[in-house]
Amino acid sequence: MKYLIETWGCQMNDHDSEKLAGLMEKEGFQAAEGVEDADVVLLNTCSIREKAVNKVYTELGRLREEKKRRPLLVGVTGCLAQQEKAGLFRRAPQIDFVLGTMALQQLPRLVEEARAGKARVMDTGDYPDNHLFPPETTLRHSTAKALVTIIEGCNHACTYCIVPTTRGVERHRPWKDVVAEVEDLVAMGFREVELLGQNVNSYLGGCTFAQLLDRVAEVEGLEWIRFTTSHPMNFTEELARTLATNSKVAPFLHLPVQSGSDAVLRRMRREYTVEQYLERLAYLGGARERIHLSTDFIVGFPGETEADFEDTLALLERVRYDQSFSFVYSPRPGTPALRLADDLPQAEKSRRLTRLQARQTELTLESNQRMVGRSLKARVESKGALDGGHWLARTGEWKNVHLAVPEGRRLPFGELVDIRVTGAGPHFLRGELA
Ligand code: SAH
Ligand code: SF4
Ligand code: F3S
Repeated sequence: MKYLIETWGCQMNDHDSEKLAGLMEKEGFQAAEGVEDADVVLLNTCSIREKAVNKVYTELGRLREEKKRRPLLVGVTGCLAQQEKAGLFRRAPQIDFVLGTMALQQLPRLVEEARAGKARVMDTGDYPDNHLFPPETTLRHSTAKALVTIIEGCNHACTYCIVPTTRGVERHRPWKDVVAEVEDLVAMGFREVELLGQNVNSYLGGCTFAQLLDRVAEVEGLEWIRFTTSHPMNFTEELARTLATNSKVAPFLHLPVQSGSDAVLRRMRREYTVEQYLERLAYLGGARERIHLSTDFIVGFPGETEADFEDTLALLERVRYDQSFSFVYSPRPGTPALRLADDLPQAEKSRRLTRLQARQTELTLESNQRMVGRSLKARVESKGALDGGHWLARTGEWKNVHLAVPEGRRLPFGELVDIRVTGAGPHFLRGELA
């Protein structure tokens, strides 16, 4: 019997898919090459924006056709499953089972019941041990970096966001478990970990998040620690200090601001003003120059005026983010923002998005150009030369480097190499071995 997992969404979903794959293999299933040779297809879904949901329904349509031709079990998990629950069966009767985000370990039981012919099998319960998933069961993708869950859920209540509904309230994994898992990962050959949570810096699994970073950094053989993602209100001076001084913590911070207008931030219920956000950034002090900064923006939030949007552009100029991710506001079911009047035409929202992204592309290019001439360490992230003849590596600042490597020379996958940056484009650096 073969299984296939298709994944949308954030790193948390990627990592959940690694956990689900491990559970399937433990039950004796083997990985399929594609839908064609799979007996069970599991869609691990995202519902952060409507576009993400549409992709899932398109794929479900394709699977309905496949099911007409042969026996096939279709399961849906992830955030759309948790949000829609039994509603999914009504909208897409080709679904055999639905597994919520807080019930991952119930997968084998659900598959077994569905295989036995039971229809509409579902578990969207809240299991308190979900975040204590046995690390040895996880089947990691063969990338250079290992993902590690430290906290699940979110206690904030941003008015546009579906995540508190789909991921529940915060559950913190004990720090000793986290450190033990990282030790095992290093023994397996990983040299880099990314600590995951909807809001990692509200971590409280027996210590603060800054303390957790220091404890994980003590694991011998580990080279870099990354983390994602952080709410500005939980970004403390202690964390800024750790980021600035612990050399194993990669020099990169993703601190989503969403908007540069206080009026919009208030309606988003982000719990900070622009000034308070900037105060928190200032915690980084002199290290700010060295640490690459990234953020998220939502444009076209209900009631966003042209002046509000200009404030967002002004904030972009002021902070000069090294990179950012920006999205047009997408109304999500059951969220408080649905009650706000939203009369801005979609075309105007798209225009704002394009303007913001065009300016960010210039800033990112400038940020990349400032790196030209620098000698850095970068991790080899391809197992061979790519189409353009170069190898792929990644710096601590989370920059892709296209590495020119002499003909016939092979680089060690997953290892840090010394490089010199020789050029820059908007999406990557060019470099050579130092
Ligand atoms: N916990 C993270 C956010 C995770 S969602 C945080 O608070 O920073 C990732 C990003 O998706 C958010 O930062 C936001 O910019 C965007 N997003 C979330 N809900 C959205 C919506 N309804 N419409 C458009 N973008 C949204
Ligand atoms: Fe969503 Fe806000 Fe929680 Fe981030 S902090 S997951 S945007 S509710
Ligand atoms: Fe999407 Fe859920 Fe992640 S909504 S962004 S998969 S937490």
